[in-house]
Amino acid sequence: MERTFVLVKPGAVSRGLVGEVVARFERRGFCMRAMKMLLVDTELAAEHYAEHREKDFFGELVGSITSGPVVAMVLEGPEAISVVRKMMGATNPLAAEPGTIRGDFATEIVNNIVHGSDGPESAAREIALYFNEEEIV
Ligand code: RTP
Ligand code: MG
Repeated sequence: MERTFVLVKPGAVSRGLVGEVVARFERRGFCMRAMKMLLVDTELAAEHYAEHREKDFFGELVGSITSGPVVAMVLEGPEAISVVRKMMGATNPLAAEPGTIRGDFATEIVNNIVHGSDGPESAAREIALYFNEEEIV
């Protein structure tokens, strides 16, 4: 069993896609260990996306993730990190396969519906960034 951190981005929350995204992971068989809606402030956004600090799209990325409420969750299941990434599809939604979340619901890279941890270290780091121990059941 493996845990991963998933975040439904503000654009998808405002479009009413939370249920759709959550349902896909639930139907696949992943177990929800934690979930909450929150506003990401600039400080949390900068920590979350610290690896992209030097990129030219960093300002746009922080602006996007702080633009409205997000839904953060911890999902658990076999190879959860890589399977969730496969279900999300390519970072650029125009390259994402139909049937993936980004391939079915997005056209813009900055607003690509969902974030998922890209490895065991980022999963642990991101889960700790968004959740206290007591919030994970
Ligand atoms: P994420 O972290 O959100 O799960 O996405 P990812 O691993 O597939 O992609 P990553 O390289 O970590 O990029 C993080 C987010 O930054 C935005 N982005 N914009 N304008 C650009 O060229 C560009 N490149 C990346 C995307 O919203 C991406 O999800
Ligand atoms: Mg990433």
